[in-house]
Amino acid sequence: MACMDVENIEEYLKKNLTRHRFKHCLNVAKACAKLARKFSMDPNRAFLAGLAHDSAKNKTDEEQIAFCKNGNSIEYFADIVKYAPQLLHSYNSATIAKDVFGIKDKEILKAIANHTLGDIDMSILEKIVYVGDALYPATVHDMTASIALRSLTRINFEGALRSIMRAKISYTLGKKEWVCPKSLEVWNFYVLKK
Ligand SMILES: [Fe+2]
Ligand SMILES: [Fe+2]
Repeated sequence: MACMDVENIEEYLKKNLTRHRFKHCLNVAKACAKLARKFSMDPNRAFLAGLAHDSAKNKTDEEQIAFCKNGNSIEYFADIVKYAPQLLHSYNSATIAKDVFGIKDKEILKAIANHTLGDIDMSILEKIVYVGDALYPATVHDMTASIALRSLTRINFEGALRSIMRAKISYTLGKKEWVCPKSLEVWNFYVLKK
């Protein structure tokens, strides 16, 4: 199957996501393309990864669990199902990107799968999607924070990456919810690498 063109992917997203989430995907795609140019990488691959990163986001918890067929390859899968099924949206979005959009580029699929929890030793494309996602939040209406983050990203990309990791963990702690050990492992990896 050939890769769908951007217009058809956008059409799918418009149908399957809320208006806010669709707008978020467009903004993230543009932010990823811009970051890719900064790293002299192909902006089209980054745009595609950013556009598709949340394609499964509007599924309910039950739908995320039912849709996820590759649990064996997901770290902490049983705990995620039990305590935070929405984390599955990243892996499910990668499945939609592959099976519905026809994206074969493994690095794009990996960047989509890891956009929420991050990963040890991410590629630049993975980091771009992880950071790009946080620059234009769909639900958190703290505009001051995202504007500050955008300027930090321009001057210190790795610093922005770590500050997003910290903010995500703090946010979950603040809600007194379960923190996926993967996000702590990822945080420890990058904080020691500094
Ligand atoms: Fe997401
Ligand atoms: Fe997102």
